[in-house]
Amino acid sequence: MEVTVRAAAKINLHLGVGAAREDGFHPLDTVYQAVAIYDDVSVLSVGEPGTFFEGAQYLDTSALPALGASITDRAAALMGYPDTSFIVSKQIPLAGGMAGGSADAAAALVALDRVHDLSTSDEHLLVMAAELGSDVPFALVGGNAHGTGRGELVEPLPTEHHWWWVVVTSDLGLSTPAVYRRWDVLFPDADPTPAPATRVLSALAAGDPVALAAALHNDLEAAAIDLRPELGQRIERGEREGALRGMVSGSGPTCVFLCRSAGAARAVASAMAGDAEAPEGAVLVTHGPVAGAHVLGG
Ligand code: C5P
Repeated sequence: MEVTVRAAAKINLHLGVGAAREDGFHPLDTVYQAVAIYDDVSVLSVGEPGTFFEGAQYLDTSALPALGASITDRAAALMGYPDTSFIVSKQIPLAGGMAGGSADAAAALVALDRVHDLSTSDEHLLVMAAELGSDVPFALVGGNAHGTGRGELVEPLPTEHHWWWVVVTSDLGLSTPAVYRRWDVLFPDADPTPAPATRVLSALAAGDPVALAAALHNDLEAAAIDLRPELGQRIERGEREGALRGMVSGSGPTCVFLCRSAGAARAVASAMAGDAEAPEGAVLVTHGPVAGAHVLGG
């Protein structure tokens, strides 16, 4: 039997970061939103063990892991099926700050559960997800969620409002640990308690894009821009073209732009894609929130 599971990219509407804990991870207060950029993970009934990739043109293929060294392979080992053969059809930027690897891991857990008819409880799936990475539990849950701990403790939030985004990828990814290390250097006196998500939570509940634009917050943005100064200009450019607000997504280098409507997002995207100042990555229009990892067929 072949099973395919779809999992979504994430945007952090709020990413408050506290000084590193003793285990090296940073305490987070974050609000996640799953957006309609997807990876599809298939478990093959026959095939060489390991994970094979196919996907969108804009992906930084230099960031692809070696055969057998993918997070999906780790997910398979954790579930007791180390010889699994996966094909991952990718749209989510690699090393882009949109948790593409985490989406693949969440999809692999759900796919293996289905293929082997395990009926794993949600609680146990979440525990395994947290073991694979800080963003993996959110990729299971999807929608909107409040994240604490190192990001792995997720509380679902209401999803009644809809939001439009322009996403600008970069041809060359950024390493998440490298961005956190730069943040440690830039902010040596950081408070251990991350900035709370209060403003984003109330703007999200109110469904007001202008209020949400004003409240968007990413503590890792300064570190990502320090490593890639052109991201600062890219954000200004999107805002000049009519986005309500631009920011770096997570640890970057993908930039995301909140727009008032689908039409406004399409106008911003075509302005950003269509002239000499065009970025070197892809310009996508997307929306959120969307569902967490779910089976497509099989
Ligand atoms: O949890 P995950 O494996 O995705 O994290 C990748 C890296 O990002 C960690 O090894 C750590 O360097 C950094 N990180 C962090 N604090 C977090 C999440 C990730 O320092 N809350």
